[in-house]
Amino acid sequence: MAHQKRKLIIAGNWKMHMGPVGTRAFIKAFVPMTAASPERELIVFPPFISLPAALEAARGTHLRIGAQNMHHEESGAYTGEISPVMLRELGCTHVILGHSERRHVFGESDAFIHRKVIAALAHSLSPVLCIGELLAEREAGRTMEVVQRQLDMGLAGLDTEQLGQVILAYEPVWAIGTGKTATPEIAQEVHAFVRWYLDRLFGPGAAAAMSILYGGSVKRDNAAGLIAREDIDGFLVGGASLKPEDFCAIAAVDAP
Ligand code: PGA
Repeated sequence: MAHQKRKLIIAGNWKMHMGPVGTRAFIKAFVPMTAASPERELIVFPPFISLPAALEAARGTHLRIGAQNMHHEESGAYTGEISPVMLRELGCTHVILGHSERRHVFGESDAFIHRKVIAALAHSLSPVLCIGELLAEREAGRTMEVVQRQLDMGLAGLDTEQLGQVILAYEPVWAIGTGKTATPEIAQEVHAFVRWYLDRLFGPGAAAAMSILYGGSVKRDNAAGLIAREDIDGFLVGGASLKPEDFCAIAAVDAP
């Protein structure tokens, strides 16, 4: 049976959707719906401004709350940025780092993302490190090379204990927000490569307990085929995480 070693994690990346009012309403509706699957780790990532509302609404429940990004410094003259210290003060437990929209729309480099990974770990925030290739890179046969570079740079200098705090999300850029999900075969191939490569980087067995999520147009009707694959340990869901019913259906999905 797949997934015996690893907890399934279902995470919702709300991007620039949902103010505090919508956030509160979502969580009030969503939490009771998911009471039946407590063995899964459920995390939502609202916009910064909605984090206090989310944390308040989720207090005492099994739902975890994380931020979509952060700066690596603790404080300073960085207009418009939010620090790991601030996220911890609020009560966030997770932070998405290196999302493809940060990489490709806002120009964040591997080196910049690496500084954030180190800072998140130093402040006891679990980074959800996103990796994944562009369509042109896949078509040029460079997928594994790209993913390898993102892992080399994103995880440089970590010890195995720190690695254990990291959640990885494989999100092929061509599948994000396009409705074109990677097939279970394509996703499994990359996930297996990532696990194999992490063992090479950190030592045999280092990746066995790591959760590697898939993201990119995950919907209630394609989630089961993906979760059935051995190395897919959950999802990072964008669009389909904005409605409690849809996100709940994904959170409850079982392999066929
Ligand atoms: P999507 O987004 O599910 O809307 O494709 C996924 C993501 O960007 O994390």
